[in-house]
Amino acid sequence: DFTPNAFVEETIADLRNKIGSEKVVLALSGGVDSTVAAVLLNKAIGENLHCIFVNNGLLRKNEFQNVLEQYNGMGLNVKGVDATDRFMEALAGLSDPEQKRKAIGRVFIEVFDDESKLIDDATFLGQGTIYPDVIESISVKGPSATIKSHHNVGGLPDFMKLKIVEPLRMLFKDEVRRVGASLGIDPELLGRHPFPGPGLAIRILGDITQEKVRLLQEVDAIFIEGLKEKGLYNKVWQAGAILLPVNSVGVMGDERTYEKVVALRAVASTDGMTADWVHLPYEFLMEISNKIINRVKGVNRVVYDISSKPPATIEWE
Ligand code: XMP
Repeated sequence: DFTPNAFVEETIADLRNKIGSEKVVLALSGGVDSTVAAVLLNKAIGENLHCIFVNNGLLRKNEFQNVLEQYNGMGLNVKGVDATDRFMEALAGLSDPEQKRKAIGRVFIEVFDDESKLIDDATFLGQGTIYPDVIESISVKGPSATIKSHHNVGGLPDFMKLKIVEPLRMLFKDEVRRVGASLGIDPELLGRHPFPGPGLAIRILGDITQEKVRLLQEVDAIFIEGLKEKGLYNKVWQAGAILLPVNSVGVMGDERTYEKVVALRAVASTDGMTADWVHLPYEFLMEISNKIINRVKGVNRVVYDISSKPPATIEWE
């Protein structure tokens, strides 16, 4: 039987033993796993843990600022790095999903490498790898896996020469959440929906521009806030909005419009491997659709994704 308090105590002792007075660098993503790993390491080695939180410009509305403030409030030694321009440049003109993922993975590694070099004589790389990631290590998903799939391309980045420390590698997701709770981490953070490393880039079908990101951030925020207001957020495993690469005809007042279509997606799942679309209440869908069309300039149509996985995937790209 798993007891979070005992795990925390034992892990802190093990980490102190293993790391001693050396330095650890760790990439925070805003997600549950990297956050719990960071808080554990912080309890064990304090200021010798150096966290880096990269803004790839593809996060949700205000997420970079909000999450960074939250990390500071938790006493983590964290540096926020806004690399939006580097990511946007690398993505310019790319519309193929895999090319977009590769570009984002490559720039993330470049930025993280640059930043970790600034931390003198760090010897460890901390990662929030959990047990399912270990089993699924051939997958190209998740920040840690992204690093793995790139490390034989050309020369090794400097941070790849670091020793690895992964305090959560024997835990399942629900155990990570329980450990997080016993560490006093905000339940809202622990209950956050999964969010893909490439962020909104794989929810904007086709090429990425900052304007499209801004538009999708607005739509997503209305949808997610609506789910929270109606007590639906915690009943859904993951939810988000997708910006489709088509325009459709609409009418506003007595003007014809020709604007973007967005899709909403909400799924029930336990591990993301299979998923069912959630039967959100019609009333809720009606309200959200109206809010989106009224408030987000450039969108005149909202559709709801009623596909399950398989054969569809959760993300559209
Ligand atoms: P799919 O779309 O494959 O998604 O059904 C399953 C889960 O994985 C997330 N996902 C990703 N996470 N990098 C990530 O870190 C990725 O490239 C990626 N693609 C999908 C997705 O959000 C869902 O939770």
